[in-house]
Amino acid sequence: MNVYMMSFGPAIKMKFAKGVLKMTVSSKPVTTSSLLKMKEKKEPIAVITAYDYPTAMLVEKAGVEMILVGDSLGMVVLGYESTIPVTLNDMLHHTKAVTRAAKRAFVVVDMPFLTYHGNLDSTLRNAAILMQEGLAKAVKMEGGSEIAETISKLVQAGIPVMGHIGLTPQAVHRLGGYKVQGREPAEARKLVHDAIALEQAGVFAIVLECVPADLAKKISENVSVPTIGIGAGVHCDGQVLVFHDMLQYGSTLSPKFVKVYGNAGNEIVNGVSKYIKEVKNGSFPALEHSYTFHTDKIQQLYGEGNK
Ligand code: KIV
Repeated sequence: MNVYMMSFGPAIKMKFAKGVLKMTVSSKPVTTSSLLKMKEKKEPIAVITAYDYPTAMLVEKAGVEMILVGDSLGMVVLGYESTIPVTLNDMLHHTKAVTRAAKRAFVVVDMPFLTYHGNLDSTLRNAAILMQEGLAKAVKMEGGSEIAETISKLVQAGIPVMGHIGLTPQAVHRLGGYKVQGREPAEARKLVHDAIALEQAGVFAIVLECVPADLAKKISENVSVPTIGIGAGVHCDGQVLVFHDMLQYGSTLSPKFVKVYGNAGNEIVNGVSKYIKEVKNGSFPALEHSYTFHTDKIQQLYGEGNK
C-alpha cells in the first residue's frame, strides 16, 4: 500500500493512503522556534487576524500558524476611520476572547497607538497587561530603527516582539495616507536598514506592509527571521490578511492586495433576510422549534375537562 505524508508547516499534515487524501491539523502549539524553522525549511507561514472567540476557534480549526489580534479591529470591528483611536483596553478585551479559543496557534497582539513611545516602564507595563491578562504570546510594534532600542529591552525582559515596517497604519497622518512604501531608492534602503535593526533588536518576525515585491524579497533574504507580508508579494516567508477583508465580513475596503476568499457578508444578509420574512409570514417558529407540555402537565394546568 502506498502511503504518502506531506507536511505544510507545524500545523497541517496531509496523508494520502488507499486513494484518499486526509488533512489533519496538528495539536502541537506553534512557537517562535517552530516559526523560525518554517523559514529555514521554506514552508510558508499562514497568519490571519481575529478579534473574538468564535473567529479564533474557526481560524485555528482551519490550521493557521499565527493569529494576529491586530489594531485593525478599530476599523473592521469598532467602526473607526483609522487605528489611532484604539486603546490598550480595546486590545486587552479582544485578546482575552481570542486566547480563550486559540490553543495551538501563536497569538500576537498589536500594541496600539502611543502605548510604546513613552518611558520604558510604561511600555513594559503595557506589554505586561497584554501578556499577563490577555494571555497573548507576543506583541507587535510598528516602526523601524527608531524603536529598536525599546524592542531590545522588551526582548531582554522575555517578551517576544514582532516588528512591522513599510506602511505602518498608526502613522497614517505622517505618511499622508495609506500608500505603498519604499518605491523610492532612499526609502527602500531605509526599509532594508530598518529590517536589519529590528532583527538585531531581537524580533522573532517582521510584518512588511505594502512594499514592492522585489524589495520584500531583498529584505526577506537579508534577515534570518521570518517576514510576514501583506501587500508585499510572494517572496515573504509568510502572509497575513485581515479576516474581515478576505471574507467580506462587513468590510468595504478592497485594496489591491486583498484576495476575497468568501462572502460572509452576503451569507449573513441572506440568512437574516430569510429570518425576517419567516417571522413576518408566521412560518418561524415551526413546531420543531417549539416546546410542548407533557399531557399530565396540561391536565394540571387546565384541569381534566379543559385539555
Ligand atoms: O492591525 C493589523 O491587522 C495589522 C495587519 C494588517 C498586519 O497590523
